Amino acid sequence: MLQGKIALVTGASAGIGRAVALKMASYGAVIGVADRDEALGLQTVQDIIKQGGEAIFVKVDGRVPEQVQSAVASIAEHFGGLHILSNNIGIQRYGNVAGTEVDVWDEVMEVNVRSTFLFSKYAVAHMQNKSASIINTSSVQAFSSQQGVAAYATSKGAIVSLTKSMALDHASEGIRVNCVCPGSVDTPMLRWAAEKFAPSVEEALINWGNKHPLGRVAKAEEVAEVIAFLASEKASFVTGAIIPVDGGLLVKLGVD
Ligand SMILES: NC(=O)c1ccc[n+]([C@@H]2O[C@H](COP(=O)([O-])OP(=O)(O)OC[C@H]3O[C@@H](n4cnc5c(N)ncnc54)[C@H](O)[C@@H]3O)[C@@H](O)[C@H]2O)c1
Repeated sequence: MLQGKIALVTGASAGIGRAVALKMASYGAVIGVADRDEALGLQTVQDIIKQGGEAIFVKVDGRVPEQVQSAVASIAEHFGGLHILSNNIGIQRYGNVAGTEVDVWDEVMEVNVRSTFLFSKYAVAHMQNKSASIINTSSVQAFSSQQGVAAYATSKGAIVSLTKSMALDHASEGIRVNCVCPGSVDTPMLRWAAEKFAPSVEEALINWGNKHPLGRVAKAEEVAEVIAFLASEKASFVTGAIIPVDGGLLVKLGVD
């Protein structure tokens, strides 16, 4: 499905980004793994090579323009171009507006929104091949909130708006831009959150899973599959789409 494609996957050391890197490699793409976590990023690269694929790791802090510009350029130079960008870098922080420190607000915006902007900004110049795809990772929290996620929910709403702007701005260049909005996905981020709020992580995952009509949280591979589809020519007429991957969470009212 992705034979001959060159993909840059951010946040690919762990969680959804790692699953996207492995999934796209399994469909034939070569992968630039971009993340700030070098040890885990090199593990993703090794696992791609083990399954018969090709990948390189670039260490980058997604908040820093010079680092992102050089990461994008080095991946495009190494493989000879760029067709796909999958933006997954993100952090979760908790608090309402009164309780969120200003530096925490800025951190969430910089990691979640600025990194998506920066990778997209520098990738577009390498994507002038009339058949490119950018897929941003937002969240159900762009549309429906819970208490105490003021900064995170705002950042995810911004990613939806950015996706729509980019889809319009770059359609004439043949760059499709779409967005996935996952519900709860079993990743290190979700397990970190579970540790904060429940006596046991497994119990939290079961409880959160039960809130989803499909009765469980997602595996990262299930989100990666949708991202890989959006990256491929199979989605050649899809741009500006905001796609829930949420086990039905967003369609459920809070009453039975
Ligand atoms: N897990 C969920 O339930 C869930 C639900 C909806 C949306 N999302 C979104 O999916 C994306 C991936 O989440 P995840 O659960 O896989 O998270 P994760 O914490 O498991 O993985 C995030 C990756 O991003 C990297 N990263 C963080 N800050 C960085 C920075 N400044 N520069 C470079 N790399 C950085 C981390 O090293 C890590 O490898 C995020 O945008 C998140 O908001 C996750």
